[in-house]
Amino acid sequence: MQAQKKKLFIRTFGCQMNVADSEGMAQVLSDQYLLTDRPEEADIYLINTCAIRRKSEEKVRSLLGSLKALKKRRPQLILGVGGCVAQQEGDRLLGAAPHLDLVFGAHGIYRLPQLVARAAAGERPVDVELNRRFPDLPPRSWESYPAQTFVTIMQGCDNFCSFCVVPYVRGREYSREADDIIREIRGFLAAGGLEVTLLGQNVNSYGRGLREPVAFPELLRRVASLRGLQRLRFATSHPRDLSDELIVAFGELSALCEHLHLPVQSGSNPILKAMNRGYTREEYLDKVIRLRQSCPGLALSTDLIVGFPGETAADFEQTLDLMRQARFDQAFSFKYSSRPQTRAAAFPGQAPEDVKAERLARLQSLQDELTLAAHRRLVGQIREVLVESTSKRSSRELCGRLRTNQVVNFHGPQDLMGRLIQVEITEAHPHSLKGRRVETPPPA
Ligand code: SAH
Ligand code: SF4
Ligand code: F3S
Repeated sequence: MQAQKKKLFIRTFGCQMNVADSEGMAQVLSDQYLLTDRPEEADIYLINTCAIRRKSEEKVRSLLGSLKALKKRRPQLILGVGGCVAQQEGDRLLGAAPHLDLVFGAHGIYRLPQLVARAAAGERPVDVELNRRFPDLPPRSWESYPAQTFVTIMQGCDNFCSFCVVPYVRGREYSREADDIIREIRGFLAAGGLEVTLLGQNVNSYGRGLREPVAFPELLRRVASLRGLQRLRFATSHPRDLSDELIVAFGELSALCEHLHLPVQSGSNPILKAMNRGYTREEYLDKVIRLRQSCPGLALSTDLIVGFPGETAADFEQTLDLMRQARFDQAFSFKYSSRPQTRAAAFPGQAPEDVKAERLARLQSLQDELTLAAHRRLVGQIREVLVESTSKRSSRELCGRLRTNQVVNFHGPQDLMGRLIQVEITEAHPHSLKGRRVETPPPA
């Protein structure tokens, strides 16, 4: 008889790469541990952390502090911190949290079975070594898997935007062999998967240094042609490296969803330069025009930072102006947060908190207007929705996404989960849409 597996709980912070990494953690430990969603019954509790802003780091520290009680009740519990804060802080975390058993960085995930064994033996291992090539991953199991998945195609980042901690906590950029990516996606599609999001910090520079160099548009073509794939997405794309070939691909590949996340960060040229982004507002807006020519229904989302050191009121107005010109469908916006090791941390003209807060509020209210206007244009249309979850408000309400990435809530039975259906958009709200399921006639 198989011995009963122990329980693993993972709390994930941060970006989609971290979501994918947490899945990797569960996968490498799956011989001995079964995932649970109840922390109080866990034998291992792992926190997968994010260091992108000070607030992200504070959340981790406060959770870690609150886990002292659980560790006291369950002394056998192995408590581990992984991900970007672990990479940044290393063994300093052990000093700060005497109840912590294990620290592992971005690439320690694949050595977790050994690390956990050492922690169980009473050692307090720290593994923050960064690899130079993509690790060989064990095959993923697609049993009881939803219709949507993330596939990591590259690790790290070499861009060194002056505000960003990612190159320090994720290491140098390297790509995963195209054949390995295709094999993984084939397995997902064979198990009934429908939607794949390719992940990397800067997917446009995919392919450098591979045995068989493959540029990103070529990888997209290969993936888009796989039988069964209904929806293809990718994140994140750097505006500087967005090639003409990729712009054209949006008009050509039918599986490629009509949505692009293209973080602009600022609309002011001096600020973009100080950020080391490598493009001007004019170049960015020109790419937006060409993208919309190539793919007329394209929805565009972005990331924006307010209060970068030296940002004047006039620089900020330039950002608002760019937002209006680009007509973003959605924007993720942040107050600039000074990060260790980054160049911008030492720049003069760090903005006071009240200025950042005021600019963020103005920017978000403009974006709310733009998003609502985009949502109103959808009312009355019948669109394809991939049903992803039950809505937060009511279990009778389902929640899904359009190809253009907007969230739609509608009534329907649970067995629609994971399916592609047609929905008529009936109401526009600032952050979501409401819809009504439309029966599609059975194929003749
Ligand atoms: N690779 C992506 C971004 C990853 S980080 C890209 O190149 O665009 C996600 C977002 O966090 C960034 O786009 C940026 O808007 C924000 N961000 C990163 N560092 C930040 C900092 N120090 N302060 C505030 N926001 C930051
Ligand atoms: Fe950070 Fe810039 Fe790399 Fe994005 S491209 S992860 S913002 S350094
Ligand atoms: Fe955060 Fe690390 Fe992602 S810092 S945004 S979890 S790469």
